Amino acid sequence: MKQFISAADVPDIRALVEKALAYKADPFKDKTLGANKRIGCLFLNPSMRTRLSTQVAAQNLGMETIIFNVGSEGWALEFEEEAIMSGNTVEHVKDAAPIMGNYFDILAIRTFPSLKNKEDDYSELYIRQFIKYAGIPVVSLESATLHPLQSLTDVITISETFTEKRRPKIVLTWAPHVKPLPQCVANSFSQWINAWGEADFVITHPEDYELDEQFTKGATVTHNQDEALAGADYVYVKNWSTYQDYGKIYNNDPAWMLTNEKLALTNNARVMHCLPVRRNVELSDEILDGPNSLITQEASNRVWAAQAVLSEILRHE
Ligand code: CP
Repeated sequence: MKQFISAADVPDIRALVEKALAYKADPFKDKTLGANKRIGCLFLNPSMRTRLSTQVAAQNLGMETIIFNVGSEGWALEFEEEAIMSGNTVEHVKDAAPIMGNYFDILAIRTFPSLKNKEDDYSELYIRQFIKYAGIPVVSLESATLHPLQSLTDVITISETFTEKRRPKIVLTWAPHVKPLPQCVANSFSQWINAWGEADFVITHPEDYELDEQFTKGATVTHNQDEALAGADYVYVKNWSTYQDYGKIYNNDPAWMLTNEKLALTNNARVMHCLPVRRNVELSDEILDGPNSLITQEASNRVWAAQAVLSEILRHE
């Protein structure tokens, strides 16, 4: 793998999942693979799980990690080509990225969407500019439209918990929230479950919350949450803002929050969420603290996803 920004960068998802689970069983088996290598992790936006798990993963491989909170500590970066930089931006990515490319062996970046300009967000302007100018492998720590390390983690978690000899039914359900959130996690989960191809996949959301078909194509989409939940083995809960009339909240019906009453419609489904979660808005306490919740296992698996990806990149550098 030369970069990791999408499921499309992964030639064999099942093999990558197996690799991650092998690291889970033996975290230090490649403890010198990254010796004398350095990863720079750039955060234009906040993070807890992604930052810590990537750092632990790199350390397990013997790599050094340098964290740079660009959003709060660095110069404000400009990403537009031919920009006249008379506003708030101080340094162009075409000047900064090649320097980072000399400091590091791998560059990992977290950028969120603006949720104002759909074309800019969906062109992945920020991460593509880093890829263009850094000259070293780039790993997405969540971008404007996708969160591939989270989605790989989600496939790992489903793979290790589903033991039956049949395809699981996986439901991605929209949930209410107080703020307009990116579509990244939902887009990415859809892209990965479709690319993995080992599940029956249903997406449910209120009208007007349709996601971009480039990610959802292949899934069954319904506005009837109860119908979707029937017989589900996994329920993945996430809020997202509107995609068509970009970045808005339309319906915010609290009845879409998953409760034990709704869970009773499923096949005793395991419940997943990428975190952070707004308790009793997006997901109820009874679900999050109940026996079907996979949230801690899921977040803990972030280390093995990151370790598998860094390992693949180091081997093919
Ligand atoms: N799920 C996730 O990406 O968490 P953080 O935002 O804390 O990294």
